[in-house]
Amino acid sequence: MTGKIYSASTTAPVNIATLKYWGKRDTKLNLPTNSSISVTLSQDDLRTLTTASAAEFFDCDKLWLNGKEESVEGNRIRACFAELRAVRKVLESANPELPALSSYHLHIVSENNFPTAAGVASSAAGFAALVRAIANLFELPQSPEELSRIARQGSGSACRSMFGGYVAWDMGQSDDGSDSRAVQIATQEMWPDMKSVILVVSASKKETSSTVGMQTTVNTSSLFKYRAEVLVPQRFKEMSEAILAKDFETFGRLTMMDSNQFHAVCMDSSPPIFYMNDISRLVVGLIETVNKIYGRVVAAYTFDAGPNAVLYYLEKDEPIVLGLLKAVMPDVDGWNKKPNTASITPTVPEGVD
Ligand code: ADP
Ligand code: DP6
Ligand code: CO
Repeated sequence: MTGKIYSASTTAPVNIATLKYWGKRDTKLNLPTNSSISVTLSQDDLRTLTTASAAEFFDCDKLWLNGKEESVEGNRIRACFAELRAVRKVLESANPELPALSSYHLHIVSENNFPTAAGVASSAAGFAALVRAIANLFELPQSPEELSRIARQGSGSACRSMFGGYVAWDMGQSDDGSDSRAVQIATQEMWPDMKSVILVVSASKKETSSTVGMQTTVNTSSLFKYRAEVLVPQRFKEMSEAILAKDFETFGRLTMMDSNQFHAVCMDSSPPIFYMNDISRLVVGLIETVNKIYGRVVAAYTFDAGPNAVLYYLEKDEPIVLGLLKAVMPDVDGWNKKPNTASITPTVPEGVD
């Protein structure tokens, strides 16, 4: 094996939706049935690290995820490769002195420093990092918005990890997906006292992937249509406004309502899908109780397609929130109080999944 290997590395953050994407109107292009909103978490704690390499002597595309070789035959990853190669090709045509990377095979090495396929948005950070690493390798001039359109084809939620802060994924109207991409609503600095904590209730791979789960809901839930067509568009406007106004009460209330409704349409699917478990419900009860005692939203919970809780709260309430969690879950590992995010692993009582 001889010849030059070209490489580029990048990291990408996790984003956790506060208004959930759940359902596709086009499964090939990953076009959603509703727009969504998320908060991008600090990379100090959770991140994907990806290196993309290209060389003339590589004989096929390959991907290693967390040290294990994975298939690159899936349509989603191939769509990302194809789009990025097409843009690189345009660049090479205009600049013939550039190496012909668009015609070389790619080797991708990626590592998540948090649980994969456990409902902590690994597909979001994973595909955002994959697209950005290749875009860096190809020295593409595309904007983050344009790269988000490509990352969306790898995993819908990945388009939102192209930005920090508060991010909206506009579902778009077109059939070709050209207007289905992420935009930033507000930077993290705009709301510096917002904090989050992740409770890793289970790091196991979920039984029903997000991709399969959401189409089961689209095809079988009778509540789903009303959520996607009526409730989410209303909430989208209210939540965007609450973020811009730094109105934590409204932001938190909508976040909890939307998480609960997302899990309700999962349960309304056939067969029903259960992502939350006993510990998840314990966390819901704790937060609802503390909010009731204080007569305001002290903290807001949200659960993605998995049992792990994400809490949002304002810095001034950190003693209440972390104090409460420490009191009920004293044996936690890895307490971590980085600026934006802290992840803790509560000890799960015996006999509970
Ligand atoms: P999650 O809740 O973790 O996003 P999903 O079911 O949506 O779970 O997606 C998990 C899948 O995403 C994995 O099985 C894998 O195919 C893909 N994935 C996760 N991390 C990466 C990564 N770093 N690079 C490429 N693909 C990834
Ligand atoms: C519950 O983006 O993982 O986390 O597009 O099929 O890869 P695919 O699904 P994915 O779904 C995320 C679902 C969610 C909500 C959200 O992130 O908006
Ligand atoms: Co995912």
